[in-house]
Amino acid sequence: MEVVITADEPAAATVVAGVVARVLATRAAPVLGLATGSSPLGAYRVLVEQVRAGRASFAGASAVLLDEYVGLPPDHPEGYRAFVRRHLTDLVDLPAARLYGPDVWSGDLPAACAAYDRLLAEVGGVDVQLLGIGSDGHLGFNEPGSSLRSRTRVKTLTSRTRADNARFFAGPDEVPRHVVTQGLGTIGEARHLVLVACGAAKAEPVAAAVEGPLTASCPASVLQLHPHATVVVDEAAAARLRHADYYREAYAGKPDWQTL
Ligand code: F6R
Repeated sequence: MEVVITADEPAAATVVAGVVARVLATRAAPVLGLATGSSPLGAYRVLVEQVRAGRASFAGASAVLLDEYVGLPPDHPEGYRAFVRRHLTDLVDLPAARLYGPDVWSGDLPAACAAYDRLLAEVGGVDVQLLGIGSDGHLGFNEPGSSLRSRTRVKTLTSRTRADNARFFAGPDEVPRHVVTQGLGTIGEARHLVLVACGAAKAEPVAAAVEGPLTASCPASVLQLHPHATVVVDEAAAARLRHADYYREAYAGKPDWQTL
């Protein structure tokens, strides 16, 4: 795992967008795993600017959602497909038909989850999966206790996560209780995992995920098992990392040939 500590949130966004831009530029048919929530928004803004400036293109890419609420109508603005379209994919040249997510409206959720895992394999796997981290250490919507080898399935959100996400809705009671999320095993099949976290509220879960024990109690600790995981944090989110000085030194001394 590589930890990149940046001065602030815009600098973290630039690092994350740089990873995605490199995948777009170097792979013939790149597959991007997209997260929602506040954490990836800065990177999405940078990518939109790059596309508008003609410096990046999603024309050959596919994009797959990490998770989706269950129980919202398909056109609800806070549904994750709608969120990702609004903040990224409708603003760039990604063909609309190549944005994939679990079909939570099909009426058969277990079948939809299994179909989604099949689809991820059919598109050739995910080249780079963007991730945020929940205040309770969740990854995707794999809440504490999630099997480290889980597949895409229905999960129940903790009341803490619902409270955290209430800011996107009229109130906490409006936040759905259930979601379909890629499992931790599913997420782990992406070739590169990039977690971005900024702000003091993320310091504790980031430290638990990066330097704590590997445990289902902190689902994001599964990053420790991945051969290519990058954690991009600002100074505030890095505040509780014991090895922060080493991470800074390693990143500052990175040779040109060693990419993230
Ligand atoms: C989003 C997702 C969640 C969020 C996490 C952090 O698709 O799966 O794991 O990344 O809840 O949310 P923010 O970024 O809003 O703090």
